[in-house]
Amino acid sequence: MILVTGGAGFIGSNFVLDWLAQCDEPVINLDALTYAGNLENLASLRGDSRHIFIQGSIGDFDLVSPLLVEHKPRAVINFAAESHVDRSIHGPEDFIQTNIVGTFHLLEAVRAYWGSLEGEGKANFRLLHVSTDEVYGSLGKDDPAFAETNRYEPNSPYSASKAASDHLVRAYHHTYGLPVLTTNCSNNYGPYHFPEKLIPLVILNALAGKPLPIYGDGQQIRDWLYVKDHCSAIRRVLEAGRLGETYNVGGWNEKPNLDVVHTLCAILDDLRPRADGKPYRDQITYVTDRPGHDRRYAIDAGKIEGELGWKPAETFETGIRKTVRWYLDNQDWVGNVTSGAYRQWLDTNYGARP
Ligand code: NAD
Ligand code: DAU
Repeated sequence: MILVTGGAGFIGSNFVLDWLAQCDEPVINLDALTYAGNLENLASLRGDSRHIFIQGSIGDFDLVSPLLVEHKPRAVINFAAESHVDRSIHGPEDFIQTNIVGTFHLLEAVRAYWGSLEGEGKANFRLLHVSTDEVYGSLGKDDPAFAETNRYEPNSPYSASKAASDHLVRAYHHTYGLPVLTTNCSNNYGPYHFPEKLIPLVILNALAGKPLPIYGDGQQIRDWLYVKDHCSAIRRVLEAGRLGETYNVGGWNEKPNLDVVHTLCAILDDLRPRADGKPYRDQITYVTDRPGHDRRYAIDAGKIEGELGWKPAETFETGIRKTVRWYLDNQDWVGNVTSGAYRQWLDTNYGARP
Protein backbone atom coordinates (compact mmCIF):
# COMPACT_ATOMS: atom_id res chain seq x y z
CA MET A 1 0.00 0.00 0.00
CA ILE A 2 0.93 3.68 -0.23
CA LEU A 3 0.57 6.52 2.27
CA VAL A 4 -0.70 9.81 0.89
CA THR A 5 -0.58 12.95 3.04
CA GLY A 6 -2.92 15.86 2.31
CA GLY A 7 -5.17 13.50 0.35
CA ALA A 8 -8.36 15.43 1.21
CA GLY A 9 -7.12 18.61 -0.49
CA PHE A 10 -7.42 19.61 -4.13
CA ILE A 11 -4.56 17.71 -5.77
CA GLY A 12 -4.30 14.99 -3.12
CA SER A 13 -7.95 13.97 -3.48
CA ASN A 14 -7.67 13.91 -7.28
CA PHE A 15 -4.58 11.74 -6.86
CA VAL A 16 -6.30 9.27 -4.52
CA LEU A 17 -9.37 9.03 -6.78
CA ASP A 18 -7.22 8.46 -9.88
CA TRP A 19 -4.98 5.96 -8.11
CA LEU A 20 -7.89 3.78 -6.99
CA ALA A 21 -9.55 4.10 -10.39
CA GLN A 22 -6.45 2.61 -11.96
CA CYS A 23 -5.33 -0.05 -9.49
CA ASP A 24 -6.37 -1.84 -6.31
CA GLU A 25 -3.32 -0.98 -4.23
CA PRO A 26 -4.74 0.46 -1.00
CA VAL A 27 -4.16 4.05 0.11
CA ILE A 28 -3.79 5.34 3.65
CA ASN A 29 -4.77 8.97 3.56
CA LEU A 30 -3.38 11.16 6.36
CA ASP A 31 -4.89 14.62 6.38
CA ALA A 32 -5.29 17.22 9.12
CA LEU A 33 -8.55 18.48 7.56
CA THR A 34 -7.68 22.16 7.71
CA TYR A 35 -10.04 24.58 5.93
CA ALA A 36 -8.62 23.19 2.64
CA GLY A 37 -9.24 19.52 3.43
CA ASN A 38 -12.65 18.18 2.51
CA LEU A 39 -13.85 14.60 2.84
CA GLU A 40 -16.64 15.37 0.36
CA ASN A 41 -13.92 15.23 -2.32
CA LEU A 42 -13.62 11.53 -1.48
CA ALA A 43 -17.34 10.80 -1.11
CA SER A 44 -17.24 8.27 -3.95
CA LEU A 45 -14.83 6.14 -1.85
CA ARG A 46 -17.20 5.77 1.13
CA GLY A 47 -17.29 2.09 2.10
CA ASP A 48 -14.32 1.28 -0.15
CA SER A 49 -11.90 -0.79 1.93
CA ARG A 50 -8.99 0.22 -0.31
CA HIS A 51 -9.11 3.73 1.21
CA ILE A 52 -8.20 4.22 4.87
CA PHE A 53 -8.63 7.80 6.08
CA ILE A 54 -6.80 9.05 9.17
CA GLN A 55 -7.22 12.57 10.48
CA GLY A 56 -3.92 13.93 11.74
CA SER A 57 -0.89 16.07 11.04
CA ILE A 58 2.33 15.24 9.23
CA GLY A 59 3.96 17.13 12.11
CA ASP A 60 2.76 14.57 14.66
CA PHE A 61 5.70 12.15 14.88
CA ASP A 62 3.93 10.06 17.54
CA LEU A 63 1.02 9.49 15.16
CA VAL A 64 2.92 9.04 11.90
CA SER A 65 5.65 6.75 13.20
CA PRO A 66 3.38 3.92 14.44
CA LEU A 67 1.15 4.41 11.40
CA LEU A 68 4.08 3.56 9.14
CA VAL A 69 5.07 0.55 11.23
CA GLU A 70 1.49 -0.76 11.29
CA HIS A 71 0.63 -0.35 7.60
CA LYS A 72 4.09 -0.78 6.04
CA PRO A 73 3.57 1.42 2.95
CA ARG A 74 5.98 0.96 0.06
CA ALA A 75 5.82 4.69 -0.64
CA VAL A 76 4.84 7.99 1.00
CA ILE A 77 3.57 10.81 -1.22
CA ASN A 78 3.58 14.15 0.56
CA PHE A 79 0.92 16.60 -0.65
CA ALA A 80 0.17 18.03 2.81
CA ALA A 81 0.84 21.75 2.95
CA GLU A 82 -0.57 25.21 3.37
CA SER A 83 -0.87 26.16 -0.30
CA HIS A 84 -2.35 29.65 -0.80
CA VAL A 85 0.04 32.56 -1.43
CA ASP A 86 -2.43 35.25 -0.27
CA ARG A 87 -3.03 33.45 3.03
CA SER A 88 0.74 33.21 3.51
CA ILE A 89 0.92 36.99 3.21
CA HIS A 90 -1.86 37.54 5.77
CA GLY A 91 -0.53 34.87 8.17
CA PRO A 92 2.79 33.15 7.47
CA GLU A 93 2.98 31.17 10.74
CA ASP A 94 0.91 28.17 9.61
CA PHE A 95 3.09 27.91 6.49
CA ILE A 96 6.25 27.68 8.58
CA GLN A 97 4.67 25.14 10.93
CA THR A 98 3.21 22.82 8.31
CA ASN A 99 5.45 23.20 5.30
CA ILE A 100 8.77 23.37 7.13
CA VAL A 101 8.40 21.95 10.65
CA GLY A 102 5.71 19.46 9.56
CA THR A 103 7.83 18.20 6.66
CA PHE A 104 10.79 17.84 9.03
CA HIS A 105 8.77 15.66 11.44
CA LEU A 106 7.45 13.60 8.54
CA LEU A 107 11.00 13.08 7.27
CA GLU A 108 12.10 11.95 10.71
CA ALA A 109 9.25 9.43 10.96
CA VAL A 110 9.93 8.15 7.45
CA ARG A 111 13.66 7.92 8.11
CA ALA A 112 13.07 5.78 11.22
CA TYR A 113 10.63 3.52 9.35
CA TRP A 114 12.83 3.15 6.28
CA GLY A 115 15.80 2.37 8.54
CA SER A 116 13.84 -0.55 10.00
CA LEU A 117 13.11 -2.09 6.58
CA GLU A 118 15.29 -4.76 5.02
CA GLY A 119 16.00 -6.29 1.64
CA GLU A 120 13.64 -5.49 -1.23
CA GLY A 121 11.24 -3.56 0.98
CA LYS A 122 14.03 -1.15 1.86
CA ALA A 123 15.43 -0.97 -1.68
CA ASN A 124 12.04 -0.27 -3.26
CA PHE A 125 10.75 2.26 -0.72
CA ARG A 126 10.18 5.86 -1.96
CA LEU A 127 9.27 9.22 -0.44
CA LEU A 128 7.85 11.52 -3.11
CA HIS A 129 7.62 15.18 -2.09
CA VAL A 130 5.16 17.29 -4.09
CA SER A 131 6.39 20.83 -4.58
CA THR A 132 5.88 23.90 -6.70
CA ASP A 133 7.50 25.94 -9.47
CA GLU A 134 7.16 29.01 -7.22
CA VAL A 135 10.42 28.07 -5.47
CA TYR A 136 12.28 29.36 -8.56
CA GLY A 137 10.92 32.90 -8.17
CA SER A 138 9.82 35.10 -11.04
CA LEU A 139 10.86 35.14 -14.72
CA GLY A 140 11.33 38.14 -17.00
CA LYS A 141 9.26 38.03 -20.17
CA ASP A 142 12.09 36.70 -22.38
CA ASP A 143 13.76 34.41 -19.82
CA PRO A 144 13.91 30.68 -20.58
CA ALA A 145 11.42 28.53 -18.67
CA PHE A 146 12.39 27.10 -15.25
CA ALA A 147 14.71 24.09 -15.51
CA GLU A 148 15.56 21.83 -12.57
CA THR A 149 18.97 23.53 -12.47
CA ASN A 150 17.53 27.02 -11.85
CA ARG A 151 18.46 28.48 -8.51
CA TYR A 152 15.83 28.82 -5.82
CA GLU A 153 14.61 32.42 -5.42
CA PRO A 154 11.28 32.23 -3.55
CA ASN A 155 9.44 35.53 -3.07
CA SER A 156 6.44 34.77 -0.83
CA PRO A 157 6.23 33.19 2.61
CA TYR A 158 4.46 30.28 0.88
CA SER A 159 7.17 29.68 -1.73
CA ALA A 160 9.94 30.21 0.84
CA SER A 161 8.38 27.57 3.08
CA LYS A 162 8.08 25.14 0.15
CA ALA A 163 11.69 25.87 -0.82
CA ALA A 164 12.78 25.08 2.73
CA SER A 165 10.87 21.79 2.64
CA ASP A 166 12.49 20.87 -0.69
CA HIS A 167 15.92 21.53 0.83
CA LEU A 168 15.15 19.31 3.82
CA VAL A 169 14.02 16.50 1.54
CA ARG A 170 17.20 16.85 -0.50
CA ALA A 171 19.34 16.88 2.64
CA TYR A 172 17.74 13.68 3.96
CA HIS A 173 18.74 11.99 0.72
CA HIS A 174 22.34 13.19 0.74
CA THR A 175 22.90 12.79 4.48
CA TYR A 176 20.90 9.68 5.37
CA GLY A 177 20.44 8.06 1.96
CA LEU A 178 16.64 8.38 2.21
CA PRO A 179 15.21 7.38 -1.21
CA VAL A 180 13.43 10.59 -2.16
CA LEU A 181 11.93 12.13 -5.31
CA THR A 182 10.71 15.71 -5.68
CA THR A 183 8.32 17.18 -8.25
CA ASN A 184 7.99 20.94 -8.87
CA CYS A 185 4.75 21.62 -10.68
CA SER A 186 3.10 24.68 -12.19
CA ASN A 187 -0.45 25.95 -11.48
CA ASN A 188 -3.04 23.19 -11.39
CA TYR A 189 -6.75 23.54 -12.12
CA GLY A 190 -9.68 21.12 -12.25
CA PRO A 191 -12.32 19.46 -10.03
CA TYR A 192 -12.30 20.02 -6.24
CA HIS A 193 -10.19 23.19 -6.48
CA PHE A 194 -10.94 25.31 -3.41
CA PRO A 195 -12.45 28.65 -4.53
CA GLU A 196 -9.81 30.84 -2.91
CA LYS A 197 -7.67 30.24 -6.03
CA LEU A 198 -8.12 32.25 -9.25
CA ILE A 199 -9.94 29.79 -11.54
CA PRO A 200 -12.64 28.45 -9.19
CA LEU A 201 -13.04 31.89 -7.59
CA VAL A 202 -13.77 33.47 -10.96
CA ILE A 203 -16.24 30.74 -11.96
CA LEU A 204 -18.18 31.02 -8.70
CA ASN A 205 -18.10 34.83 -8.52
CA ALA A 206 -19.25 35.05 -12.14
CA LEU A 207 -22.25 32.79 -11.49
CA ALA A 208 -23.10 34.71 -8.30
CA GLY A 209 -23.04 38.06 -10.16
CA LYS A 210 -20.05 39.24 -8.08
CA PRO A 211 -16.91 41.14 -9.21
CA LEU A 212 -14.10 39.12 -10.82
CA PRO A 213 -11.02 40.53 -9.02
CA ILE A 214 -7.89 40.96 -11.15
CA TYR A 215 -4.74 41.77 -9.17
CA GLY A 216 -2.74 44.66 -10.67
CA ASP A 217 -2.80 44.75 -14.48
CA GLY A 218 -3.68 41.07 -14.92
CA GLN A 219 -0.64 40.51 -17.14
CA GLN A 220 1.08 38.11 -14.71
CA ILE A 221 1.76 34.83 -16.46
CA ARG A 222 1.20 31.35 -15.06
CA ASP A 223 1.71 27.93 -16.66
CA TRP A 224 -1.51 25.92 -16.24
CA LEU A 225 -1.79 22.14 -15.95
CA TYR A 226 -4.98 20.08 -15.60
CA VAL A 227 -4.83 18.39 -12.19
CA LYS A 228 -5.16 14.85 -13.56
CA ASP A 229 -2.05 15.43 -15.66
CA HIS A 230 -0.18 16.40 -12.50
CA CYS A 231 -1.41 13.15 -10.92
CA SER A 232 -0.18 11.08 -13.87
CA ALA A 233 3.22 12.80 -13.67
CA ILE A 234 3.50 11.93 -9.96
CA ARG A 235 2.59 8.30 -10.66
CA ARG A 236 5.23 8.17 -13.40
CA VAL A 237 7.96 9.73 -11.21
CA LEU A 238 7.09 7.33 -8.40
CA GLU A 239 7.39 4.43 -10.80
CA ALA A 240 10.57 5.36 -12.66
CA GLY A 241 12.12 8.56 -11.27
CA ARG A 242 15.78 8.47 -10.35
CA LEU A 243 16.46 8.69 -6.62
CA GLY A 244 17.36 12.12 -5.29
CA GLU A 245 16.27 13.82 -8.53
CA THR A 246 13.79 16.63 -8.96
CA TYR A 247 11.37 16.76 -11.90
CA ASN A 248 9.63 19.89 -13.19
CA VAL A 249 6.04 19.29 -14.27
CA GLY A 250 4.13 21.69 -16.49
CA GLY A 251 1.64 21.97 -19.30
CA TRP A 252 3.41 24.23 -21.82
CA ASN A 253 0.43 26.53 -21.29
CA GLU A 254 1.68 29.98 -20.36
CA LYS A 255 -1.22 32.42 -20.09
CA PRO A 256 -1.65 35.94 -18.68
CA ASN A 257 -4.24 35.94 -15.88
CA LEU A 258 -6.52 38.29 -17.81
CA ASP A 259 -6.63 35.83 -20.75
CA VAL A 260 -7.55 33.01 -18.37
CA VAL A 261 -10.40 35.09 -16.93
CA HIS A 262 -11.61 36.08 -20.43
CA THR A 263 -11.61 32.40 -21.42
CA LEU A 264 -13.65 31.46 -18.33
CA CYS A 265 -16.13 34.26 -19.08
CA ALA A 266 -16.51 33.12 -22.70
CA ILE A 267 -17.15 29.49 -21.67
CA LEU A 268 -19.75 30.61 -19.14
CA ASP A 269 -21.39 32.89 -21.74
CA ASP A 270 -21.77 29.75 -23.83
CA LEU A 271 -22.77 27.20 -21.17
CA ARG A 272 -24.74 29.38 -18.71
CA PRO A 273 -25.52 32.80 -20.27
CA ARG A 274 -26.34 35.65 -17.89
CA ALA A 275 -30.07 36.29 -17.46
CA ASP A 276 -29.65 39.89 -18.71
CA GLY A 277 -27.84 38.69 -21.87
CA LYS A 278 -24.69 40.68 -21.01
CA PRO A 279 -21.22 39.05 -21.10
CA TYR A 280 -19.64 37.85 -17.84
CA ARG A 281 -16.50 39.86 -18.64
CA ASP A 282 -18.47 42.98 -17.62
CA GLN A 283 -17.94 41.76 -14.02
CA ILE A 284 -14.12 42.09 -14.23
CA THR A 285 -12.75 44.50 -11.62
CA TYR A 286 -9.12 45.56 -11.19
CA VAL A 287 -7.98 45.50 -7.56
CA THR A 288 -4.75 46.27 -5.67
CA ASP A 289 -1.93 43.91 -6.59
CA ARG A 290 -0.61 41.08 -4.42
CA PRO A 291 2.56 42.23 -2.56
CA GLY A 292 5.69 40.60 -4.02
CA HIS A 293 3.57 39.25 -6.89
CA ASP A 294 5.67 37.02 -9.18
CA ARG A 295 5.34 38.26 -12.75
CA ARG A 296 5.87 35.10 -14.75
CA TYR A 297 6.24 31.34 -14.24
CA ALA A 298 7.05 28.93 -17.07
CA ILE A 299 8.07 25.30 -16.80
CA ASP A 300 10.52 23.44 -18.98
CA ALA A 301 9.11 19.92 -18.71
CA GLY A 302 11.80 18.47 -20.98
CA LYS A 303 13.38 16.29 -18.26
CA ILE A 304 10.24 14.40 -17.24
CA GLU A 305 9.18 14.09 -20.87
CA GLY A 306 12.59 12.92 -22.13
CA GLU A 307 13.58 10.66 -19.22
CA LEU A 308 10.23 9.26 -18.19
CA GLY A 309 8.09 9.66 -21.31
CA TRP A 310 5.39 11.67 -19.47
CA LYS A 311 3.15 14.07 -21.40
CA PRO A 312 -0.01 15.93 -20.39
CA ALA A 313 -3.21 14.49 -21.86
CA GLU A 314 -5.21 17.75 -21.79
CA THR A 315 -4.64 21.04 -23.54
CA PHE A 316 -5.69 24.18 -21.68
CA GLU A 317 -8.73 24.47 -23.96
CA THR A 318 -10.03 20.95 -23.21
CA GLY A 319 -9.14 21.04 -19.51
CA ILE A 320 -10.66 24.42 -18.76
CA ARG A 321 -13.97 23.52 -20.41
CA LYS A 322 -14.18 20.30 -18.39
CA THR A 323 -13.44 22.32 -15.26
CA VAL A 324 -16.21 24.87 -15.84
CA ARG A 325 -18.65 22.03 -16.53
CA TRP A 326 -17.58 20.31 -13.31
CA TYR A 327 -18.39 23.41 -11.25
CA LEU A 328 -21.75 23.82 -12.99
CA ASP A 329 -22.58 20.17 -12.32
CA ASN A 330 -21.42 20.12 -8.67
CA GLN A 331 -23.30 22.94 -7.03
CA ASP A 332 -23.79 20.89 -3.83
CA TRP A 333 -20.03 20.63 -3.38
CA VAL A 334 -19.75 24.36 -4.02
CA GLY A 335 -22.48 25.11 -1.47
CA ASN A 336 -20.64 23.10 1.18
CA VAL A 337 -17.28 24.82 0.75
CA THR A 338 -18.57 28.39 0.53
CA SER A 339 -19.54 28.52 4.19
CA GLY A 340 -18.96 31.17 6.85
CA ALA A 341 -15.21 30.62 7.16
CA TYR A 342 -14.83 30.98 3.40
CA ARG A 343 -16.82 34.22 3.34
CA GLN A 344 -14.66 35.52 6.20
CA TRP A 345 -11.54 34.83 4.10
CA LEU A 346 -13.05 36.76 1.18
CA ASP A 347 -13.60 39.75 3.51
CA THR A 348 -10.02 39.51 4.81
CA ASN A 349 -8.42 39.29 1.38
CA TYR A 350 -10.67 41.47 -0.77
CA GLY A 351 -12.24 43.84 1.79
CA ALA A 352 -8.93 45.68 2.24
CA ARG A 353 -8.07 45.60 -1.47
CA PRO A 354 -9.81 48.52 -3.18
P1 NAD B 1 -4.70 22.25 -0.76
O1 NAD B 1 -4.50 23.45 0.09
O2 NAD B 1 -5.92 22.14 -1.59
O3 NAD B 1 -4.67 20.93 0.15
C1 NAD B 1 -3.73 20.73 1.18
C2 NAD B 1 -4.20 19.55 2.01
O4 NAD B 1 -3.22 19.33 3.04
C3 NAD B 1 -5.53 19.78 2.72
O5 NAD B 1 -6.34 18.64 2.60
C4 NAD B 1 -5.15 20.02 4.18
O6 NAD B 1 -6.14 19.60 5.09
C5 NAD B 1 -3.90 19.16 4.28
N1 NAD B 1 -2.99 19.58 5.36
C6 NAD B 1 -2.61 20.85 5.68
N2 NAD B 1 -1.77 20.82 6.72
C7 NAD B 1 -1.59 19.50 7.05
C8 NAD B 1 -0.82 18.82 8.03
N3 NAD B 1 -0.06 19.49 8.91
N4 NAD B 1 -0.89 17.48 8.06
C9 NAD B 1 -1.67 16.79 7.20
N5 NAD B 1 -2.43 17.38 6.26
C10 NAD B 1 -2.39 18.72 6.18
O7 NAD B 1 -3.37 22.13 -1.63
P2 NAD B 1 -3.19 21.59 -3.11
O8 NAD B 1 -3.43 22.69 -4.06
O9 NAD B 1 -3.92 20.31 -3.25
O10 NAD B 1 -1.61 21.32 -3.10
C11 NAD B 1 -1.10 20.06 -2.67
C12 NAD B 1 0.42 20.12 -2.73
O11 NAD B 1 0.83 20.41 -4.07
C13 NAD B 1 1.03 21.22 -1.87
O12 NAD B 1 2.21 20.72 -1.30
C14 NAD B 1 1.34 22.35 -2.84
O13 NAD B 1 2.44 23.11 -2.40
C15 NAD B 1 1.66 21.56 -4.09
N6 NAD B 1 1.40 22.24 -5.37
C16 NAD B 1 0.19 22.81 -5.61
C17 NAD B 1 -0.06 23.40 -6.86
C18 NAD B 1 -1.40 24.02 -7.19
O14 NAD B 1 -1.53 24.64 -8.26
N7 NAD B 1 -2.42 23.90 -6.37
C19 NAD B 1 0.94 23.39 -7.83
C20 NAD B 1 2.18 22.80 -7.53
C21 NAD B 1 2.38 22.22 -6.30
O1 DAU C 1 2.63 27.76 -9.47
C1 DAU C 1 2.15 26.78 -8.59
C2 DAU C 1 1.33 27.44 -7.50
O2 DAU C 1 0.10 27.83 -8.10
C3 DAU C 1 1.08 26.53 -6.31
O3 DAU C 1 2.30 26.23 -5.68
C4 DAU C 1 0.13 27.19 -5.30
O4 DAU C 1 -0.17 26.28 -4.26
C5 DAU C 1 -1.14 27.56 -6.04
O5 DAU C 1 -2.01 28.24 -5.15
C6 DAU C 1 -0.83 28.46 -7.24
O6 DAU C 1 -0.31 29.73 -6.81
P1 DAU C 1 -0.78 31.11 -7.48
O7 DAU C 1 -0.54 32.20 -6.52
O8 DAU C 1 -0.21 31.26 -8.85
O9 DAU C 1 -2.36 30.79 -7.64
P2 DAU C 1 -3.67 31.69 -7.44
O10 DAU C 1 -4.81 30.93 -8.01
O11 DAU C 1 -3.78 32.22 -6.07
O12 DAU C 1 -3.36 32.93 -8.41
C7 DAU C 1 -3.13 32.74 -9.79
C8 DAU C 1 -2.82 34.11 -10.38
O13 DAU C 1 -4.01 34.90 -10.36
C9 DAU C 1 -1.78 34.88 -9.60
O14 DAU C 1 -0.98 35.63 -10.51
C10 DAU C 1 -2.60 35.83 -8.73
C11 DAU C 1 -3.82 36.11 -9.59
N1 DAU C 1 -5.08 36.34 -8.85
C12 DAU C 1 -5.44 35.46 -7.88
C13 DAU C 1 -6.61 35.64 -7.17
C14 DAU C 1 -7.00 34.67 -6.07
C15 DAU C 1 -5.89 37.43 -9.19
O15 DAU C 1 -5.56 38.21 -10.11
N2 DAU C 1 -7.05 37.59 -8.49
C16 DAU C 1 -7.45 36.76 -7.48
O16 DAU C 1 -8.51 37.01 -6.86
